[in-house]
Amino acid sequence: MEYKQMVALSIHEALVKNDVKSLSKQEITKTLEVPPQQSMGDYAFPCFVLAKTLKKAPNQIANDLSANMESGLIERVEAVGPYVNVYLDKTFTGKAIVEEILNEREAYGSPSLGNGEQITIDLSSPNIAKPFSMGHLRSTVIGNALANIMQKCGYTPVKINHLGDWGTQFGKLITAYKQWGEEEKVKAEPIKELLALYIHFHEEAEVNPELEVQGRYWFKQLEDGNQEALALWKWFREVSLVDFQRIYQLLGVEFDSFQGEAFYNDKMEPVVNELEEKHLLSESDGAMVVGLDEFNHPPCLIKKSDGATLYATRDLAAALYRKKEYSFAKALYVVGGEQSLHFKQVFEVLKKMGYTWAADMHHISFGMMLKDGKKMSTRKGKIVLLEEVLKEAIELATENIESRNHELENKEEVAKSVGVGAVIFHDLKNYRQNDIEFSLESMLTFEGETGPYIQYTYARACSILRKGMNQVEIVEQSYQAFQDDKAWTVLSLLMKFEEVITHAYHQFDPSQIAKYTIDLAQAFNKYYATVRILEEDNQLGSRLQLVEATTIVLKEGLRLLGLKAPEKM
Ligand code: ARG
Repeated sequence: MEYKQMVALSIHEALVKNDVKSLSKQEITKTLEVPPQQSMGDYAFPCFVLAKTLKKAPNQIANDLSANMESGLIERVEAVGPYVNVYLDKTFTGKAIVEEILNEREAYGSPSLGNGEQITIDLSSPNIAKPFSMGHLRSTVIGNALANIMQKCGYTPVKINHLGDWGTQFGKLITAYKQWGEEEKVKAEPIKELLALYIHFHEEAEVNPELEVQGRYWFKQLEDGNQEALALWKWFREVSLVDFQRIYQLLGVEFDSFQGEAFYNDKMEPVVNELEEKHLLSESDGAMVVGLDEFNHPPCLIKKSDGATLYATRDLAAALYRKKEYSFAKALYVVGGEQSLHFKQVFEVLKKMGYTWAADMHHISFGMMLKDGKKMSTRKGKIVLLEEVLKEAIELATENIESRNHELENKEEVAKSVGVGAVIFHDLKNYRQNDIEFSLESMLTFEGETGPYIQYTYARACSILRKGMNQVEIVEQSYQAFQDDKAWTVLSLLMKFEEVITHAYHQFDPSQIAKYTIDLAQAFNKYYATVRILEEDNQLGSRLQLVEATTIVLKEGLRLLGLKAPEKM
C-alpha cells in the first residue's frame, strides 16, 4: 500500500466530484509535497497547479477541495492559503504501516518496477598486478549497493568485474619476471611483488632501452598465444585475484563474472568489421577512428596505427557481448568521473551503429577520495594501504566495542561488521559525484551520521525487543501510542521507505537510502529518549510493534547499502 497514493486518490476523487478532470492520480502524487514542519500536516497539495485550468484563485481552490476530501486514512484537512494540508489519522495509518511491515518483513518497501529483467553492473574492475585504488573501492561499494537496489526493485542484477587484465604492460611484466622474479616472493605477496617488478623494469629501461624491445616482444608473444607467455600471464592474473579476493571478502561483495578485458580479445575483430561495413571508420594519422563531430566529441580510437586495439574497442565488444548474453534492460558502468568522455564516446559509437539500446547504458560516475583536500596518490603499496585501512577500521571498532560491551559474544565478527560498515557508509552517505574527504576517525564514531551510529541504534532497538518479550502478556492495543509526536515521526519515515528506494533507483543514488537510515535512526533515538517504551500499560504492544517495524526497516536499509546489522553491540 502506498499511503501517498491513497492521499492522491482522495484528492482526485474530490476533484472529480466537482467535475475537474485535468489532473491524473499520478500527477497528483507527484505534486504532493511534504510540509517543512510536522505541525503543518503529513502532505500538502499546492493548488496553484490548478489555477490556470479552473480560472480560480489558488486559495479558493484550496477551500473547495478541502471541503470535499474524505478517506479513512485522513484525520482532517486544512486549507492554508493556496495549500491543502493533509493530516493522516495517526492511529489508523500507523497501525496499517506497522502491520504491513511486520507481515512483509524484509520484503517491505520493494517497488515493483522490474519483472526479473537483467541489469548488468560493471563495477570494481581493478587492474591486474596493480594496486587496488580508492577509486576501485568506491566503484565496488557504490556498484554493490546499486545491485542491491536494482534487485529490491524487481530486477536481476549481474555484477561484472571487468578486470584490467590485458595490455602492453604484461609484456613488460613477463620480461621483468623472467629477469628478476622469484616465484616464492610473488606467491607470498602477489600485487606488492608484481608491482615492484614493474617499477624495477621502468627504472632499468631508462638505462637499458633493450628492455623495452623485449617488453614489446613478449607482449607480441602473448597476443600470438605463446605457451610460456600465456602461462605467466594466467598466473599473474590468478595470484592478483587472490589478493583482490581478500578485499572483496572483507567488504562482503561477490561478483557474477570476472570476464575482464582479455575476454574480448577474440571478440573485437567482428566489431571492427561491422564498423567498416557501416562506413563508420575513417583514418586519422594511420589510426582507425569513428568521428563524433555531431556530438561535439573527439573521435573514438578503434585501432592504433600498429593494428593494436584499444580500451574503447574492448568496451564496444563487451557491450555487444553483454547485450547478447544478458539482453540487459539497463547496463551500468560504475567508474570514476575521469572516464566520462570515454563512456560518452562508446555509447555514441553504439548509437551510430544503429543500436537504440545504447540509450539504456549509463555511466555511473563518482568523485575522488581526498586526503587533506588532495587526491590520494597511487604510489606503490596501495593495496596494502586499502587493506590496512579496513583492518585499522576493524581494530578501532574492536576497541570501541571492548570499552562498551566487554562481555559481548562473537566480538570479532561484530567488530568486522562495524569497522567495514563504517568505511562503506562513509562513502555512500555522500552523493556519489561529490569528492569525499577520507578520515578514519570521523568514520568510526558511534555518533553523528555514521554507519556505526545506525548499527548501534539497530542493536539498541533489538535489545528493547528482547526485554519486551519478557514482559507480561499484552492486553489491549488501541494504537493510541501512535498519537505521540515522536512516534509519528518514526512512523511517517517508515511509511516513506518505498518512495526513497524508488528515487534511489531512478537516480542511481544510494546516498538517499543512507540519508534515510540516518533520519530513521535519529527519529527512533528521539522517541526512545522521550517515551518509556517498556512501560507495562495497554499501549506496550503497539510500542513494541513500532520498535520491531523499525528494526526491520533499519536492517533492510543497511543491507541495501552493503552493511551488516549485528543484533548485539
Ligand atoms: N580497469 C579500469 C580502471 O581501473 C576500469 C574499467 C571500467 N570498466 C569498463 N568497462 N571500462 O580504470
